[in-house]
Amino acid sequence: MVDFKDIIANEIYDEALGLSIDDIRNLIEIPADEKMGDFAFPCFRLAKALRKAPQMIAADIAGRISGNEAFAKVENVNAYVNFFINRAYFASQVVSEVNDLGDQYGRSDHGAGRKVIVEYSSPNIAKPFHIGHIRSTVIGNAIYKLYDAIGFDVVRINHLGDYGTQFGKMIVAYRKWGSEEELAHDPIKTLLKYYTRFHKEAKDDPSLEDEARETFVRLEAGEPEEVALWKKFRELSLAEFNRVYDMLDITFDSYAGESFYSDKMPRFIQELKDKGLLIKSEGAQIVDLEEYGMSPAMITKSDGSSLYVTRDIAAAVYRKEHYDFYKCIYVVASQQNLHFKQWKKVLELMGYEWEKDCIHVPFGLVSLSDGDDIKMMSTREGTVVFLEDVLNTAVEKTADIMREKQTSGVDIDTVSREVGIGAVIFQELSNNRIKDYVFSWDKVLNFDGETGPYVQYTHARASSVLRNASEEDLAGVRAGEFDWSKLNSDSAYTLVKLLYRVPEVVLEAANKYEPSILTRHLVDIAQSFNKFYHDEHILVEDKDEKLAKLALVLASRTVIANCLGLLGIKAPERM
Ligand code: ARG
Repeated sequence: MVDFKDIIANEIYDEALGLSIDDIRNLIEIPADEKMGDFAFPCFRLAKALRKAPQMIAADIAGRISGNEAFAKVENVNAYVNFFINRAYFASQVVSEVNDLGDQYGRSDHGAGRKVIVEYSSPNIAKPFHIGHIRSTVIGNAIYKLYDAIGFDVVRINHLGDYGTQFGKMIVAYRKWGSEEELAHDPIKTLLKYYTRFHKEAKDDPSLEDEARETFVRLEAGEPEEVALWKKFRELSLAEFNRVYDMLDITFDSYAGESFYSDKMPRFIQELKDKGLLIKSEGAQIVDLEEYGMSPAMITKSDGSSLYVTRDIAAAVYRKEHYDFYKCIYVVASQQNLHFKQWKKVLELMGYEWEKDCIHVPFGLVSLSDGDDIKMMSTREGTVVFLEDVLNTAVEKTADIMREKQTSGVDIDTVSREVGIGAVIFQELSNNRIKDYVFSWDKVLNFDGETGPYVQYTHARASSVLRNASEEDLAGVRAGEFDWSKLNSDSAYTLVKLLYRVPEVVLEAANKYEPSILTRHLVDIAQSFNKFYHDEHILVEDKDEKLAKLALVLASRTVIANCLGLLGIKAPERM
C-alpha cells in the first residue's frame, strides 16, 4: 500500500544530509493545521551538519523535489518542507488496492506462525443462556476474528461451566421432583425450575444442601448414576446453546469445559503441596494471598471437592502444554476480576512464567432499559431474560420495520434475521467493552443512528449504486483503465483516508482486545460514504469521473462488508 512517509523519506534522502532513510522517516510530522500540508519535514537538526540556516535547507529540499505524482504541492515555510498529498493519486492507490484484494483487504500476517487461544462464551450447563452471556459470546467472537485477520492461528475454546457443586443440587432436585417427559420438552427452563425449587425448599430444609454436596462428591468420584444424569443435563443444554450459536453463526474448536479437567486436578494439588503453597484452613486447602492484598484462593473444600479456580489452574497448564500458546485470552465479565487475579498469582507462585501471556479481557454489565439491572436477573430466583428470546424479538421487530417500509425485492425472512441479529451484535460491540451499558430496543434497531442497521443499510446502498451501473462501466472499473484526476473532492478524500486506515485499525483493535475501535471506525466510514453519496452525483456523463467514483463505491462496499464480517455481522445486498 502507498506509504507517503516512505516516498517523502526517499525523496529527501541525500548522502550529504547525514541521515538514513529511517532517520528521515522518524522526523516527519503531521501538521496540526491542514493548511501546512498533510506531512511536514523539519530541518532544524540539519543546520549544524550543513552549516546553513534551517530555512535555507528547507528551501533547497523543496526546490529539489519536483514532479513526484504523489504530491500536489511541495513548499517550504520557514524551517519546514510541507507536503500536500495529490488526492487523486492517493485515491487511485487506495481504491485499486482495496479492489484488488477484495475480501482480503484489512488482513495481515503479523501473527504468522503463532497460536492464540480465545476463550469465550462459556455458559453454565443446565442454566439459561441469558442476555448477560451475550457479551462474552459476541466480544469473544469478534476478538477471535480480529486475531485471525492479523494472521494468528486461533483456537476458539468454550470453557463450559459443566461442573461444580450446583450439579449436586440439580441431580437431587431432578430425583425428587423431575420428570423425564417435562425435561425432554423444554430442558433448560425445566432444569431451571427444579433448581429454583431446590433453593426454595432448602431454605426450610437445610439437609437438602448436605445431600447435594454428597451427590457432587459422588459425581466427582465417577459414580455411574450421577455421571449419567450429569451427562444428560449436559447434552440437553448443549443442544439448546447450539441453537443460539447457530443464530449468531458462531462455532468453537473445543468445548472442553470445567469437567474436562476433573481428572487432571490431583496433579496440580500435589504440585501446589510440593511447592509449599497449600495450607489447611478449617479442613479446606487454600493458597494464602494476603501478602498480595487478596483473599485466599480455595483449592479444595473440606469434603475434598475441587473449585472453580482449581479447574482454571488445570485448564491453563493443560492449554500451555497442549497448544503451546503465544497468548491465551479469557473473555469474561469484570465481575470475575478478583478470581482471575488470584488465579494468575497462584500460577506465578507455582513458577509458570507464561502466566503473563494469559490475559483476562473483562467487560461491563448489561442492564435492561426498564431499570432492571442484570444483577437482578437471578438464576436462583428464576427471573432471567433468555438470549434466544432477545434474538428472536430482534428478528421480529426488524421484520415489522421492513414490512412498514415496504422494501420491495427483499427476502424479508433472511434479511430480517441478518439485520435483527446483526443489530444486537453491533450494539454489543459499539461501546468500550469495559463500560456497563443499558440495552434498549430503540437504540439497537434505529436505522439512522450509529447502529448495525445503519451500517448494513449503507452497504446495501452501495450495492444498489453498483447494480444501477452498466456492465460496461463495471468492466471499466475492474480493468482500472481510467483517469483518476477528478476524484479529488473533500468528501471523496475523507472517505479514502478512512478506507486507507482500516488495516491499522484492525491491528489496533486486536492489540487492545477492543472490537469497539473497529465498530466506531466502521460508523465513520458509513457516515463518510453517505456524505459522499449525498454530495456527489455518481453516475455522471464524464466517463473517467464516473468510473473513478464507481471504483470508490465498490471499494467502500468491500471495506464495509469486510469490517462487518470481522465483527460477526452479515452484509445484505438489499434491505
Ligand atoms: N462459566 C462461567 C460463567 O458463566 C464463565 C467461565 C469463564 N472462564 C474461565 N476460564 N473461568 O460465569
